[in-house]
Amino acid sequence: MAEERESHWERVYREKDDSQLSWHQDDPTTSLELCDVAGIDAGSSVIDIGGGTSRFAEHLIERGLSDVSVLDVSQAALHRSRRRLGALSAQVEWIASDVTTWNPDRSYDLWHDRSVFHFLNDAADRTAYQDQLYRCLLPGGHAIIATFALDGPETCSGLPVVRYDPEGLSEVLGDRLTLVSHRRQTHLTPWRNPQSFQYSLLRMGQ
Ligand SMILES: C[S@@+](CC[C@H](N)C(=O)[O-])C[C@H]1O[C@@H](n2cnc3c(N)ncnc32)[C@H](O)[C@@H]1O
Repeated sequence: MAEERESHWERVYREKDDSQLSWHQDDPTTSLELCDVAGIDAGSSVIDIGGGTSRFAEHLIERGLSDVSVLDVSQAALHRSRRRLGALSAQVEWIASDVTTWNPDRSYDLWHDRSVFHFLNDAADRTAYQDQLYRCLLPGGHAIIATFALDGPETCSGLPVVRYDPEGLSEVLGDRLTLVSHRRQTHLTPWRNPQSFQYSLLRMGQ
């Protein structure tokens, strides 16, 4: 399963540029707005799970954060992001790993995931993801998890997804995390197709 996932995403990033990726956005506005709600500032540590070629990490660096990590199962995606960032890429820790099998050795103030959790159709994978999330979040830390909303598409990148509303997502992630806030967003793909997302901000118990 993990190898199939890796080869799928390697192929995607080798064959398509950003303008051909349905999830691409120039400005991660909703994520950054929820960072503000969570009180993320220059002293916060943040990991972007499945960051791909997202601009989220560079927006955080522009905001003065010096502890930013990006994890992705695709080496090709990380390579592209590093190249785009140029000298700034040295300010990011790049982690090539599947989130479900990763072995984290530290914790973060914020876990950000836009469109990774919704690919986990298998209960064992969701449990593994939840274990990592619990291990990685500092007490009082936050998670921003964006998935397709209940009226969003049923597939992404040709793969089936599980759609959530904030309450359903919060229930799946367990009661150590409390739903603090949420947003709906209609994302427009680079070819102007609307897709409904939900963004949930959850807080880890002390
Ligand atoms: C739909 S894309 C979203 C990319 C990025 N978060 C964004 O908003 O632009 C999903 C990303 O998650 C990565 N990914 C998928 N499954 C993963 C997993 N199990 N562990 C780590 N990364 C994963 C893919 O390589 C891809 O970059």
